[in-house]
Amino acid sequence: MDYLSVNQQGWDRRVQTHVTSDFYDVAGFLKGNSSLQEIELAHLNVVGKSLLHLQCHFGLDTLSWARLGADVTGVDLSPAAITQARKLADQADLKAEFICSDIYSVPETVKAEFELVFTSYGAIVWLPDLDKWAQVIANKLVAGGQFYMVEFHPAQAIFEGYSYFHQDAPDVEDEVTYTENASDDTNTFMSWSHSLSDVINALIKAGLEINSFDEFAFSPYNCFEGLTEETVAVELPLATEQRKRYFIEQKGQRLPLTYAISATKKA
Ligand SMILES: C[S@@+](CC[C@H](N)C(=O)[O-])C[C@H]1O[C@@H](n2cnc3c(N)ncnc32)[C@H](O)[C@@H]1O
Repeated sequence: MDYLSVNQQGWDRRVQTHVTSDFYDVAGFLKGNSSLQEIELAHLNVVGKSLLHLQCHFGLDTLSWARLGADVTGVDLSPAAITQARKLADQADLKAEFICSDIYSVPETVKAEFELVFTSYGAIVWLPDLDKWAQVIANKLVAGGQFYMVEFHPAQAIFEGYSYFHQDAPDVEDEVTYTENASDDTNTFMSWSHSLSDVINALIKAGLEINSFDEFAFSPYNCFEGLTEETVAVELPLATEQRKRYFIEQKGQRLPLTYAISATKKA
């Protein structure tokens, strides 16, 4: 089975459901809301920077960075997602370039180099080889450019029955999607676990210098089973905002649910 065709078809079929979901809240975005979460908002200043968003889905986060002053390019495997991203850019009257491409082909399909490369929440599990992924990031950054990623924590996935450590053979599953408006229809997906050391070592091997590594006991998304919700006041660069955080406890202790890495391409 060719994982790219399988996953492309699965993501293509999810797009329309996602665009009409409360989870993604496209109507709110078109009224001016940002889809970005507190972790990345607190860390990144994108004003005036060229930004490449890898695995951008249908472009909500990419376009939210554009609203904050970045010159954005989004890349995704799914033609349906890219079509929707372009439509959304027109609707929101935001300048953005969206390119349909497998991430490993980005050195050929995306011509420019960028000051910032960004990827987030639920991206790297779709990739079989993190060394290749990190080389793509290094290839697309200007010297001195910054890579920032925020992802779901692989320790949490253990409790859902996934391996913590990488295995060559993918997990092949028929899944319903994660938005609240999902039907019972399933699509097949192929995914891979990546331990934290695999992520960090891939970036180091590609020539990036790690500047920070953070782990969080919460997910900003309500997308796992057994989550409890808290609303907290968070100081963000532009304002203090009420933000929802979702937690999971095991034997009375909170699990790590997300992590973030900031790295620089050596000049
Ligand atoms: C969970 S979504 C991205 C999450 C993003 N934070 C969001 O919710 O908007 C994962 C995306 O990765 C894309 N994708 C999966 N495999 C890919 C690949 N090999 N190359 C490029 N994009 C890929 C999918 O099409 C999908 O849009």
